[in-house]
Amino acid sequence: MTDRPSSPQLRERPELTQRPRRLRSTPGIRRLVQEHRVRPADLVLPLFVAEGLTEPKPISTMPGVLQHTRESFQQACREAVAAGVGGLMIFAVPAHRDADGSCALDPGGILAQAVRWAVEVADGVPVIADLCLDEFTDHGHCGVLDAQGRVDNDATLTAYGRMAVVLAEAGADVLGASGMMDGQIGWVRKELDVSGYTDTALLAYAVKYASALYGPFREAVDSALQGDRRTYQQDPGNARESLREVALDVTEGADIVMVKPATAYLDVVARVRDLVDLPVAAYVVSGEYAMVEAAAAVGAIDRRRTILELHTSVKRAGAGIIATYWATELARWLQEES
Ligand code: PBG
Repeated sequence: MTDRPSSPQLRERPELTQRPRRLRSTPGIRRLVQEHRVRPADLVLPLFVAEGLTEPKPISTMPGVLQHTRESFQQACREAVAAGVGGLMIFAVPAHRDADGSCALDPGGILAQAVRWAVEVADGVPVIADLCLDEFTDHGHCGVLDAQGRVDNDATLTAYGRMAVVLAEAGADVLGASGMMDGQIGWVRKELDVSGYTDTALLAYAVKYASALYGPFREAVDSALQGDRRTYQQDPGNARESLREVALDVTEGADIVMVKPATAYLDVVARVRDLVDLPVAAYVVSGEYAMVEAAAAVGAIDRRRTILELHTSVKRAGAGIIATYWATELARWLQEES
């Protein structure tokens, strides 16, 4: 149905040669001229696997998201794959933590195991392992600490290098380098290459802000962090700095560059898209998830439309890959609509 402004009482019709509403007049026309549309394959599902769980455990601040057992994890991976998602991103919650995060470097550790479990059911969908120490350290920082208690950049690189080889050996297709240490991409690339893992790709969290929106994630991984990550994650007031971070990661050998969080940083996504020719990803983080779920739960917004709109915005800004806790559900909706 059309509703053109064609009132018969109109005595004089304005001479409009440009009528943008013409292209909005029917669902078919709107579909034809749509510039950006999220595809299931654009979506990456982050999943949490916890060591020693007998039952999947809900995360109170993220309704619908679970800490998984092996069984529930593999089931969630199968459902995501069936819905057509483009990738599975694995985070692990170990039973034991220490100052150096040594479980992360253990080939039999929970993250390496979870990667193997994912590969078993992924049916060729890329398995992305998180390459960071924060889930494994008893102080909760993304790296190891020096004698003064500061995050020691270069000692952390050594650990990331060893962890990367363990995860590549476990079968991860992609490693998500999320720790924001200087030089991490170059160091890890070199360590993978000398170990023969030249095909293991690096998803660089090139731009990662010290954001309040990671709050629910910290519950999801039982984070031990006291204080904050402002000596390594970026100040939300800075945008140009992100271009520098991206340029460095590209030079060091990143295969994909990511911006995180997503919806509050769409300007940064757009600038990064303009800067590089690599695939650009954005991460719709736990706080973005929690805000929408909370608002939808009280009836303030239409849940499905909001989720679709936010992800369309991220894609429109320039991210061809979107990590999101809604990946499976959203992929199903998109399949229904196509
Ligand atoms: C750290 C990491 C974090 C997230 C992903 N990887 C938390 C942090 O930096 O504190 C947050 C993801 C989210 O909030 O959904 N390796």
